Amino acid sequence: MASPLDPQLRRALSDRVRYYNDLGIYDFYRQPIQTLSADSGLATESARTTSPLADSVKLNPTSDPVTALRLIREDIGDCTRCRLHKQGRKQIVFGVGNPRAELMFIGEAPGADEDERGEPFVGRAGQLLTNMIKAMGLSREEVYIANIIKCRPPNNRQPERDECETCSPFLMRQIEAISPKAIVALGAVAAKTLLAINAPMSELRGRWYDFRGTKLAVTYHPAFLLRDPRQKKETWKDLQMVMKELGLEVPAKSQE
Ligand code: URA
Repeated sequence: MASPLDPQLRRALSDRVRYYNDLGIYDFYRQPIQTLSADSGLATESARTTSPLADSVKLNPTSDPVTALRLIREDIGDCTRCRLHKQGRKQIVFGVGNPRAELMFIGEAPGADEDERGEPFVGRAGQLLTNMIKAMGLSREEVYIANIIKCRPPNNRQPERDECETCSPFLMRQIEAISPKAIVALGAVAAKTLLAINAPMSELRGRWYDFRGTKLAVTYHPAFLLRDPRQKKETWKDLQMVMKELGLEVPAKSQE
């Protein structure tokens, strides 16, 4: 028979479960505990922590972001949780990039090109985003790119609130798995969904927010910049703010 849980551990567990429930996560896995010796080279910081949770039940199935992302993708499956699965989406667009990225970009929803290719930001707006990333001295492979929702809305309409609510818990898990140093929310839908603030973009951008312990900046969506290129200058200011935070070199002539 299983031995009763130590009261301190029980409390820690229930706090942790509540925290995940608040994020919209209800499915947990129980994994056999791996014994890692400090000199095996495999012992991670989290495995060595003295938290009572660390040496008993791991609620986050793994601290390895590659495995964590794979498990999240498996959980999503051939998703039918919201109406978008029967409104013409070809495939789920999960996210792409470095599972250990320091910087994460979050857009709104896949469009036609993304739905076709199964990868976020690969159409015209995606090409502009790729150029923005390059201007920061980074590559698409170094960052992680995802969207608030993972299925294309019909006729590229804006995602409905309930679609965002249904889908975003998976994004929360991706953010937790990747644990970036900074997040850039692209456009109003991403910003308002993540921050739960209803304000115009001009007020949302240009400053840092604390998103569950991670720094988050808001900037214009590349699709908007294609329609109004005059805002590229402001966007570049936002990206420079992010570059400074990440310790990336900001070209001298653009520092004014
Ligand atoms: N716009 C988005 O918000 N996301 C994409 O993946 C493509 C276009």
